[in-house]
Amino acid sequence: MKLGIRLKQIETLVAPDYDHIWDCCCDHGFLGASLINKQRAPYIHLVDIVPELIQSLNEKLTRHIPAHPDCQWDTHCLDISRLPLSHYSGKQLVIIAGIGGDLMAQLVNDITLANPHIEIDFLLCPVHHIYTLRQQLIELNMMLKEEVLVKENKRIYEVLLLSSKPAHIADSGNKLSPVGNAIWQATSSDQQLRLIELQIAEEYLTKTRKHYQRMQYGDNDPKIQTILQAYQDITIKMQ
Ligand SMILES: C[S@@+](CC[C@H](N)C(=O)[O-])C[C@H]1O[C@@H](n2cnc3c(N)ncnc32)[C@H](O)[C@@H]1O
Repeated sequence: MKLGIRLKQIETLVAPDYDHIWDCCCDHGFLGASLINKQRAPYIHLVDIVPELIQSLNEKLTRHIPAHPDCQWDTHCLDISRLPLSHYSGKQLVIIAGIGGDLMAQLVNDITLANPHIEIDFLLCPVHHIYTLRQQLIELNMMLKEEVLVKENKRIYEVLLLSSKPAHIADSGNKLSPVGNAIWQATSSDQQLRLIELQIAEEYLTKTRKHYQRMQYGDNDPKIQTILQAYQDITIKMQ
């Protein structure tokens, strides 16, 4: 199974030191299957709310992925707001991709509040409503480890890697910005790649500003004006 550009980028951000990785809202299970194939953690869990999806995924994985002592996998059919993280020990990464940012905000909130004593890393890639999601993550005191943009099929996505460790004891990471920070800087050491990063950031910023301009015409909400202003204040930098 070859991953698309978006899932590949998400996979690249998975560090090798997790004990449990949760591919949440896994649907086809491509990302989870790739993580199992690469033995990226001792335990990899694939979770979706739809029973038929999980059943067919379970059959496919059993057929195609042989058991390996260094990487065990499991499938779970459940609403990820009830992820049983406290039943497992060690470092845990929760990946959620391919759902709306507003639903993602709600689910991350539910998971975090249900597990106040566990340090959880989240790797998130929403479809739309990124501002709502970022607001929720800021409220939850999440620390940012990495943020990148990825373009696939003419669509640009934000990918955020965060830790739920409370800010006052955090030893790594930065405070999250409501509109992003590192995503507006082209930092690659390769000049060609730096130019591509710059183009994607410019395209994404233009699209985002236009989106909020349209919203502002339709609805004279001061909140929209604040968001639009924040995006208008962004300057893209090349290092
Ligand atoms: C478009 S797919 C995303 C697939 C994959 N993560 C990706 O990014 O390509 C969205 C999946 O989220 C699942 N889903 C939506 N809400 C959920 C929830 N609360 N708990 C678990 N799965 C959920 C749906 O059943 C669907 O399979």
